[in-house]
Amino acid sequence: MTTTPKELYIPEHIGIIMDGNGRWAKKRGLPRPIGHTYGAKTFKSMTRYISRRGVKYLTLYAFSTENWKRPLEEVNSLMKIFRQYLIDSLTNFREDDIKVVFIGDRSAFPSDIIKLIDETEEIAKDRKGMQLNLAMNYGGRAEIVQAVQRLCQEVRDGQLTPEQLTEAMLSDRLYTAGQPDPDLIIRTGGEHRLSNFMLYQAAYAEFYSTETLWPDFGEKEFEEAILAFNQRSRRFGGV
Ligand code: IPE
Ligand code: IPE
Ligand code: MG
Repeated sequence: MTTTPKELYIPEHIGIIMDGNGRWAKKRGLPRPIGHTYGAKTFKSMTRYISRRGVKYLTLYAFSTENWKRPLEEVNSLMKIFRQYLIDSLTNFREDDIKVVFIGDRSAFPSDIIKLIDETEEIAKDRKGMQLNLAMNYGGRAEIVQAVQRLCQEVRDGQLTPEQLTEAMLSDRLYTAGQPDPDLIIRTGGEHRLSNFMLYQAAYAEFYSTETLWPDFGEKEFEEAILAFNQRSRRFGGV
């Protein structure tokens, strides 16, 4: 039996590690920040496309807790791109039904960016469309540590004993509280690693890596990932 695209199962939650902007620029003899500018264009078009495809939750890894190690010039150009995206999404994209939330430690960003993040979340908060989790200054380990700190506080306040702690309680204190775990994690740029992305939530996610660099990732590449996902057999430890 052949499956037509219509019959494909669309994962409820997809995570994407948007990697390869720097190499994309290098291949063209351009400075790395230009790669990020083109990556931002892909980000905008793919967010809309994925929302139209019926995905309920999309988590995009935009900046990791380790990316501060990059040369100051590159970090500054990424901040400029984030600022521009946030300004655009507050003006041009008001009609979108996408519910944007930011995951990660926003306190490390310049104060004007924090303000734009807060405003963007505020205007999007009642939207009913796809939830877009934008992972910025996000690290899976840092996320687990802050969840554990909150639980320790609850134990100290007498609301909980260590023995009562469950996996669900830890999940409920992650940035993604209340959301289903990702079914599929796509990484562009060819590496086969998580690079500190959704470490707790990814326990049973299907991992899909493509050589395509993020600025070149389009609808065709996304559909290939969906097709590959549909060919996987998910057992969750069962038979
Ligand atoms: C991903 O592209 C974007 C960020 C991490 C901000 P890279 O900048 O990591 O691109 P490569 O991996 O060096 O090609
Ligand atoms: C992962 O890419 C982080 C983002 C895509 C935001 P990196 O380029 O930082 O990961 P490594 O260094 O190759 O592991
Ligand atoms: Mg990279």
